[in-house]
Amino acid sequence: MPGERVDARELAGRFFAAHGRPPRISRAPGRVNLIGEHTDYNDGFVMPAALRFRALTAWAPRADRIVAARSEGHGGERRLDLDAPAPARGDWSDYAFGVALALEKAGHRLVGADLEISGDVPAGAGLSSSAALEVSVGHALLSAAGLPVDKIALAKACQRAENDYVGMRCGIMDQYVSCRGVAGAALLIDCRSLEARPVALPADVRIVVANSMVKHAHAGGEYNSRREACEEGVRRLRPRLGPIAALRDVSPQALESAGDALDEVVRRRCRHVATENARVLATEAALARGDAAQAGRLMAASHASMRDDYEITCPEIDALVEVAASLPGVFGSRMTGGGFGGCTVSLVEAARADEIMARIAEGYRARTGIDATIFACTPADGVGEVPV
Ligand code: GLA
Repeated sequence: MPGERVDARELAGRFFAAHGRPPRISRAPGRVNLIGEHTDYNDGFVMPAALRFRALTAWAPRADRIVAARSEGHGGERRLDLDAPAPARGDWSDYAFGVALALEKAGHRLVGADLEISGDVPAGAGLSSSAALEVSVGHALLSAAGLPVDKIALAKACQRAENDYVGMRCGIMDQYVSCRGVAGAALLIDCRSLEARPVALPADVRIVVANSMVKHAHAGGEYNSRREACEEGVRRLRPRLGPIAALRDVSPQALESAGDALDEVVRRRCRHVATENARVLATEAALARGDAAQAGRLMAASHASMRDDYEITCPEIDALVEVAASLPGVFGSRMTGGGFGGCTVSLVEAARADEIMARIAEGYRARTGIDATIFACTPADGVGEVPV
């Protein structure tokens, strides 16, 4: 996955040097999730925003059916023959080739292409560097074949690549917002209907992201086991609650009434999801009436639920949230993304953002000895082509 700061012109130059022809360039952003964690694969609600950090894929079609991809940050060219697909190798190219194969499987007839991939989404930080890579490659491959880009279909193909080829059973949030992000707003996504609406932030509020520098690695492992607990919850609740298809259909009250059908751990996992879905909708309502304080309280409750019920935080992340939450001008703070490290997201008073960022860094260093990377962000647009 990319992690380097290369601009589109530099990347085009690199492509030209390698292939002797000018490329076009597809760009897809990483994301930060304001609230709604581990709800997407339960058919629930999420509220992410696309970031300025992005993956870039420089591309030009080939006359054959070979996808030849290079990622300078990761050394060496990898090749995929669309007519003789090989299994995943366990490196960055799986994200690119998984998308090519998922698009073909969805009925798109691709052509071969040369790809040069780069980007600046920090890897392993919970900011969706893999989704950014997938979506930029998907956009590149569809465009190289002269096919239209249906953004929801592209998001689905990218999710399928990760589920089926990489082996990470992620939901659709990251790929979706990387495709359909809206500059200046977060997106409320209904992960069942796949409809989304923009959520504007009050003008005097900023989003601050702080990287704990603890790298997560949740392909497989803990992430998939959380998903299994949710599935088990649905299976065991169904006889009690009727024809529920997913935890989306279970309110916190219904769960309370039928909770004795579940063992203790599964009950807590389900409680996180049921209460988190309710918090996402409440956050949307709070932001719509300009009530950043209430949105902040909901973020704090989300963090507590991830820490205590879903058990996906870690001591450093908890410290980072506690430091931020103790500062004047911070409405709320929580971990963002899949968990076990990565970043926190805080809603803060715009006028005090700089001071708050400095104090978060200071407080986190004092508690952990780690230097966090901290930035304020403005939501960006989803996937598109950048002029070279
Ligand atoms: C990862 C996954 C998403 C989502 C989040 C948790 O980012 O890719 O689908 O499940 O974790 O909210």
